[in-house]
Amino acid sequence: MTGHVLGIDVGGSSVKAGIVDVAAGRLVGELISAPTPQPSTPTALMPVLAALAARLPGARGAVGLAFPSVVKQGKARTAANVDPSWLGTDGAALLGQALRRPVLFLNDADAAGIAEVTWGAGRGTSGTIIMLTFGTGIGTALFTDGRLFPNTELGHMELGGMEAEKWASAQVRTAQKLDWPAWIERVNGYLARMHALFWPDLFILGGAVSERFAEFGPLLRSEARIEPAQFAGQAGVIGAAMAAAARQG
Ligand code: BGC
Repeated sequence: MTGHVLGIDVGGSSVKAGIVDVAAGRLVGELISAPTPQPSTPTALMPVLAALAARLPGARGAVGLAFPSVVKQGKARTAANVDPSWLGTDGAALLGQALRRPVLFLNDADAAGIAEVTWGAGRGTSGTIIMLTFGTGIGTALFTDGRLFPNTELGHMELGGMEAEKWASAQVRTAQKLDWPAWIERVNGYLARMHALFWPDLFILGGAVSERFAEFGPLLRSEARIEPAQFAGQAGVIGAAMAAAARQG
């Protein structure tokens, strides 16, 4: 994998983009962003993605597009935090037409996990790793010995009678004005449940909130090791570009 590749990460509230040196696993230049249009339909999002791409002319070849849904055979199959008109949409074909470049479309947490397992907090760890992204929802990516099991949707696992992401996401923390101990009590409950089911060796905690790991990290409890994501909110962009480069060969 070589070259400078464009990565784009669509989130519930903002879209981020950056040029990634895929051989070094890092951003070249700055991460840029734009608000996610509401409603976040494919028609409303495409001009936003194209405008971000136009501001980053330094990349060549395929583009990686990380998206908050299950992606099977190139199509979005769930739409928990994006407009339901995405269901069945071929994100690669749509953005490919707009940019006139090949596009790789993948789940956002899978993208973040690829970056962290290859270059970040999971580098050098064998066994089972679960990447968690705390944002509008909770994204998950499951790896064994570096191999991704794609499209796990463990943020929708039931916890205390409700979906885990409706109880413990970063957005819920903000909306309910939870202090760190109150939020981390919920996160610890989620980690305990995940541990009982998957017995990971490492949890990587990501999403923009992981930039504040120093404030809440000491409160986290699990039988597995817990590390903050090294790339925090940039992981999706970096991993999307890496996946696009890998597909291109
Ligand atoms: C979606 C996942 C996504 C996660 C993080 C969830 O609501 O179902 O596909 O990875 O949010 O964005």
